[in-house]
Formats: sequence, C-alpha cells, structure tokens
Amino acid sequence: MTPLPIRIAPSILSADFSRLGDEVAAIVAGGADYIHIDVMDGHFVPNISFGAPIMKAVRGVTDKPFDCHLMISPTDAYLADFAKGGADLITVHAEAGPHLHRSLQAIRALGKKAGVALNPATPVSTIENVIDDVDLVLIMSVNPGFGGQSFIPGSLAKIRQARALIGGRAIDLEVDGGVTPANAGEIARAGANVLVAGSSVYGGNDPSTYAGRIKAIRDAATGIIA
Ligand code: DX5
Ligand code: ZN
Repeated sequence: MTPLPIRIAPSILSADFSRLGDEVAAIVAGGADYIHIDVMDGHFVPNISFGAPIMKAVRGVTDKPFDCHLMISPTDAYLADFAKGGADLITVHAEAGPHLHRSLQAIRALGKKAGVALNPATPVSTIENVIDDVDLVLIMSVNPGFGGQSFIPGSLAKIRQARALIGGRAIDLEVDGGVTPANAGEIARAGANVLVAGSSVYGGNDPSTYAGRIKAIRDAATGIIA
C-alpha cells in the first residue's frame, strides 16, 4: 500500500542546460509534480553538476516544488543558500557527515522540508533514530553521481524496509536512479510514492516527448499499466 499520492519528479540533471528554463517549463507542462534538482560537488560524488545560483535562476519558471538533492559534503554551510534560492525540500545524504540530525534540524529551522538519502550500500536502519525528523526518505537505486545508470534490483527490498520504517507517518518515500516505465510498477508496489526520472523523461531533450514519458511512468506506478 502506498499511503501518499504518486509523484513524478523529473531530474533536470538530464535537461539541456543551454535552455534550462524552457526545459523546466516543458516538464511542468508535461505533468511533472516535483522538480528534482541534483547538486553534485565532485567530492561526495565523482561528478560536478551545478549549485544554488543555477537553481535560483529557474525558480521563477514554476510554482511546483523544488526537490533539492544535495550530493555534497559537507552540507551544513550551504543549506541557507539552497533555502534562499527556492528549494522547498532539501535532502542530505546520511553518509555526508557525522551529524545528520543537526543537518535535518537546520533544514527545518530554515522553514524547509527535510529529506534524508541513502546510498545503495547504506542500510535503512541508519535512519531509525531520525525518522521523526524527516519529511522524505530517498532510496538511491544507483550509486549517485551520474544519470542514465541501471536500477540496482536489490533496491526493491530496501524500499520495502523503508516503507515499513515509515509506517503510518506522512513521509514521502522517493526512489532515484534508473526509474523507467518498465520498473515503476514494482517500485510503487514496494512502497515508494515519489519517482525521480532523469534520462527516462529528458533523454533526447525533445519537449514533445516529455508528457508521454511522464504519463507512462505515472500509469505504470499507479497500476493503470501492469
Ligand atoms: C543520480 C541522480 C539522479 C539522476 C537520475 O546521482 O541523483 O537524480 O538524475 O537519473 P536517471 O533517472 O537517468 O537514472
Ligand atoms: Zn537525485
């Protein structure tokens, strides 16, 4: 059972950065629920993407929630920049530093929703003691750093474990990495309700394809297509 509604969160990591504002507008027109913002520092993950100024530059394009996934370490010194830049939800990695609870408290003190992400090798038990301090749990179904990787099958068991930990709490359970219309059904059945999709929405960067791709993922997740 999925307690919260299914949300599709296209990742702008796979957008055409030369026309980023138009790319954000296009996924909103195509039915995106959240805008997933992948921030990478070349230190916590082996790739660099963009920071708060780029996110801020496209904030005016839409009122849809900005779901900001920080793949950076350390995190705390940058949280205010992302809050001021327009993030609605800020997710930090459990592996990014020794003081996860402090980071989550800092995000909420900035008036934003707080998320925690787990790399594929990190057990769900890591977040047992902060589960009442988060608004979202993000299960990474690839090793973070790059779009276009294949979904790690063992992630399904972790999604079920995270769903059990969340129980009846109003916490989003998000899955990120290798999500496609072919696996969205089993991901949702395992208990996830927010599906990040980078290359499976933006691949080829043809805006005329986005609505159909978002719908295909949503239909699979909601069981309209088996
Ligand atoms: C990976 C990022 C993902 C990425 C997903 O490190 O956190 O959000 O954009 O891309 P796809 O959907 O192509 O695996
Ligand atoms: Zn992400």
